[in-house]
Amino acid sequence: MTRHVLVTGANRGIGRSIAAAFVEAGYTVSSIHRSGELPAGVHGAIADITDTAAVNAAFDALEAEHGRVEILVANAGITKDGLLMRMSDEDFETVLDVNLAGTFRCVRRATNSMLRQRFGRIILVGSVVGLMGNPGQVNYSASKSALVGMARSITREVGGRGITANVIAPGFITTDMTDELPEDTKKQYEASIPAKRFGAADEVAAAAVYLASDAAGYVSGAVLPVDGGLGMGH
Ligand SMILES: NC(=O)c1ccc[n+]([C@@H]2O[C@H](COP(=O)([O-])OP(=O)(O)OC[C@H]3O[C@@H](n4cnc5c(N)ncnc54)[C@H](OP(=O)(O)O)[C@@H]3O)[C@@H](O)[C@H]2O)c1
Repeated sequence: MTRHVLVTGANRGIGRSIAAAFVEAGYTVSSIHRSGELPAGVHGAIADITDTAAVNAAFDALEAEHGRVEILVANAGITKDGLLMRMSDEDFETVLDVNLAGTFRCVRRATNSMLRQRFGRIILVGSVVGLMGNPGQVNYSASKSALVGMARSITREVGGRGITANVIAPGFITTDMTDELPEDTKKQYEASIPAKRFGAADEVAAAAVYLASDAAGYVSGAVLPVDGGLGMGH
């Protein structure tokens, strides 16, 4: 039987490319998403990851049909940028609730299945700015750097049960999220990236497929940058 991978937010952007890459690689692929259409071959359940009961119900429904989740790619995330002094409590808390607590809700439910199988791959989509920081993104970078601590604590807690937990840290990738940036900001970012270009979502997907593979069974608690050299591991 093929392994079951669940990707959150596979309806667009990086999540969509990750889900499509797993379909291409022959996995059983499902997604928790709150809107839109999924790529061909991806099974879906509607849920907002800020809602614990909805997340658990979506996992239950997808597992009843397709078997226990063996690989989780926690991809869904948002930005609500603003300078520190002007950032509202709501914009700070909303970003943390989706990017950090939402990821936690999915990880907790997925780990329940993984422990029973004594196999699991937890892949958290962080960001280069979680490591480097970025003006206007105090909320977002805090939420993303926290995923590193989460992956490392998971590794220490359940690493002996065949479960790995890693973070992919993408740099600037062309999606709706970065399309919102002003043109001159995009040009400044491009100039600062050693590769001199934004990345493509399928370049992030390739890293996820690797971390899910049997070949990556001894890689855990790591942060894998996919950033054209922007972060240099920081
Ligand atoms: N693009 C980049 O340059 C970049 C760089 C580093 C890291 N990342 C990270 O990569 C991940 C994907 O980013 P992207 O660029 O593909 O973003 P995107 O195009 O804006 O897509 C975000 C995805 O997350 C889903 N989502 C957001 N809030 C959700 C919620 N409460 N419940 C369920 N799903 C929710 C969205 O669903 P809806 O369609 O329903 O809104 C969508 O599927 C994010 O975690 C982001 O922080 C992106």
